[in-house]
Amino acid sequence: MITAPASPAARMVLGIETSCDDTSVAVLERGVMVRSHLIATQDVHRWYGGVVPELASRAHLELLPPLVSRALAEADVQPGELTAVAVTRAPGLVGSLVVGLAFAKAYALGLGLPVVGVNHVEAHLHAATLEHGDSPFPAVALVVSGGHTELVEVRGIGTYRWLGSTLDDAAGEAYDKVAKLLGMGFPGGPAIDRLAQRGRRDAFDLPRPMVDRPGYEFSFSGLKTAVAQVVASLTPPLDETRVADLAASFQAAVVDSLCVKTLRALDATGARALNLGGGVACNLELRARLSAACAERGVAFRVPSPRLCADNAAMIALLGAWMLDRGTASGSSLDAAASLEDSGLPLVEA
Ligand code: KG4
Ligand code: ZN
Repeated sequence: MITAPASPAARMVLGIETSCDDTSVAVLERGVMVRSHLIATQDVHRWYGGVVPELASRAHLELLPPLVSRALAEADVQPGELTAVAVTRAPGLVGSLVVGLAFAKAYALGLGLPVVGVNHVEAHLHAATLEHGDSPFPAVALVVSGGHTELVEVRGIGTYRWLGSTLDDAAGEAYDKVAKLLGMGFPGGPAIDRLAQRGRRDAFDLPRPMVDRPGYEFSFSGLKTAVAQVVASLTPPLDETRVADLAASFQAAVVDSLCVKTLRALDATGARALNLGGGVACNLELRARLSAACAERGVAFRVPSPRLCADNAAMIALLGAWMLDRGTASGSSLDAAASLEDSGLPLVEA
């Protein structure tokens, strides 16, 4: 069960997410019931093998008005029934964030509604709540996506201790770069995940960066270079079995590295739950390994369905509803921040 926010402003929240290349809109009733939830993935970026920021901003601009109309229609909610607008304010591509913020502020102003700015990474930390109910605390959250690899101790909603991040590439970024090396399209994570099911995970001896070091930091760029060296050493054309073996060996290295640090964090903090978020949390091997490790420890394993792992507006509305309950509404002064460091996440020391 999710504890419903008591604030009248949280009764019917319109959530808007535009931090990267997904335009998403959701209507959330009383902070617990998803009345509608739409995600438009911008296909234009496939042509370029990665997200093109300027094209992402333009696409958000075109997609938002019809998506909001459709989300309200699917929710069977009139604009006048909305009680607040929650919008991603940081971190992300600044142009994309600004489009979402400008739209949200204008829409809220037109309807006389409060608008609340939500931290995208904080929303990922809690996305599992929409399907699994309230989290026991303390919890550990792992957010793994194309832009983030963040390990966080969650002591409560709004109280976080930062454990570690990647020193270079994010986990999803490594997947996308290796997929490119193997001649696959963008984004590459899902394709590598599928292919890895057919390969041998010990076929190539790839490094597990940072696992022997203390702490909670990650690094994936050396692993990507190691895969590039293997590819260069093989005689083309690579047959499918070889590519599947390489995909499986790469995935094993990424998952080992993520699991070592995450389990270390669970053990050190005495966490009662593990929350996963971000697109890489869709990965089948990562889910299976962490699920088994949590079961061994008696820790609740909370991973959302793929739709709620990826960038989505339902998690933005969820966190927005909680913030409204705590009296946080930002109004028209709301500003975008591109980096996580500047995103104003409420952190505590040790
Ligand atoms: O959270 P997300 O949708 O967007 C952001 O990056 O913010 O995550 C997308 C990332 C991409 O790098 C994609 O390759 C990766 O998540 N991804 C996966 C899988 N599904 C998506 N990586 C590994 N295995 C998957 N099944
Ligand atoms: Zn994200």
